[in-house]
Amino acid sequence: MSFKALVVRDAPQRASVESVRRDDLPEHGNVLVKVDWSSINFKDALAVTGKGKIIRSDLPFVPGIDLAGEIVESSDPAFPEGSTVLSTGWGVGEVTWGGYARYQRMKSDWLVPVPQGLSTREAMIVGTAGFTAMLSLQAIQEYGLPPGAGPVLVTGATGGVGSFSVMLLAAAGYEVVAVTGKAEAAAYLKELGATDIHPRSTFESGAKRALDSGNWAGCVDSVGSAVLESVLSQTMTHGVVAACGLAGGHRLNTTVFPFILRGVRLIGIDSNTCPQAPRRRAWEGLRDLAQSIDFERIAHDVMLEDVPLACDQLMNGGIQGRYIVDLRDAG
Ligand SMILES: NC(=O)c1ccc[n+]([C@@H]2O[C@H](COP(=O)([O-])OP(=O)(O)OC[C@H]3O[C@@H](n4cnc5c(N)ncnc54)[C@H](OP(=O)(O)O)[C@@H]3O)[C@@H](O)[C@H]2O)c1
Repeated sequence: MSFKALVVRDAPQRASVESVRRDDLPEHGNVLVKVDWSSINFKDALAVTGKGKIIRSDLPFVPGIDLAGEIVESSDPAFPEGSTVLSTGWGVGEVTWGGYARYQRMKSDWLVPVPQGLSTREAMIVGTAGFTAMLSLQAIQEYGLPPGAGPVLVTGATGGVGSFSVMLLAAAGYEVVAVTGKAEAAAYLKELGATDIHPRSTFESGAKRALDSGNWAGCVDSVGSAVLESVLSQTMTHGVVAACGLAGGHRLNTTVFPFILRGVRLIGIDSNTCPQAPRRRAWEGLRDLAQSIDFERIAHDVMLEDVPLACDQLMNGGIQGRYIVDLRDAG
């Protein structure tokens, strides 16, 4: 059996669609998944363009941190043949071959059944980005920030994590203020549920003072660095900030004052290693919200051959929403 996969080969790194045989797939894993859909996340763009050291395995390598499809072979009775599953994280697409292939061998420990009521396509519109946004929303709720406490910022708002965070927070009743580098995206962000838009530039120079006016009850931050530093200095007493990204850089230069004088909670979000119980709870929450939110409005379809170009665009900050990869004709 042969099928298509996007394969990254030796330096200078290049990724192209190749015909792969089933015997080429890594041997680890007790389940064979026929992949219908994958998606493009920030990590995928780093892996495919070679701009970040995401691939931690020998080349050739198949990237793609997300996948959803049908099980066609399984030795795990909990994941029988014919069931639909999704996978995000666990180092798939970083350490082990990922979702940019029509078939992939997986460990059943990495899989989540696609919740009833959600299609494999919708699961990949969500993907790692939407799952991370859901974990961020749940952290904000669990750390005691109710809707009505005040405006909640979303930084990197037009990105995958950002777009989903705007939609999920608004659907949960929060007043959402979007922070974006794209002035032209205001209408898009308002349609997703933002009540106000702030330019990214007003946050990019970092905190003006250790404690600035407390304007924000909370934040989902996918940018990091100076933007997160500004956000922390402007967060209200007992506010909650969920830090999940580094699109603007990984360094954080701050003081303890927001934490010890305002009780601000800075919560780290790691979707990659999220344990199974909260993972399934988040996916059930996403399935429930899919009844009231139209995920399709942020989705753009691409074929496997289009992934390298889409990754270049994502690296240049030029895309909006979620790019999902259609593998149904890939073999
Ligand atoms: N912790 C986790 O488990 C987890 C999971 C998924 C993603 N992430 C991280 O979250 C971040 C966003 O991921 P994503 O998949 O949503 O990526 P994405 O779709 O590329 O979105 C990133 C957004 O950040 C903003 N941005 C881009 N370049 C920037 C820069 N140089 N400085 C400041 N802002 C910039 C842009 O939004 P605007 O133009 O609207 O400002 C862009 O759309 C990444 O750092 C990713 O690694 C973490």
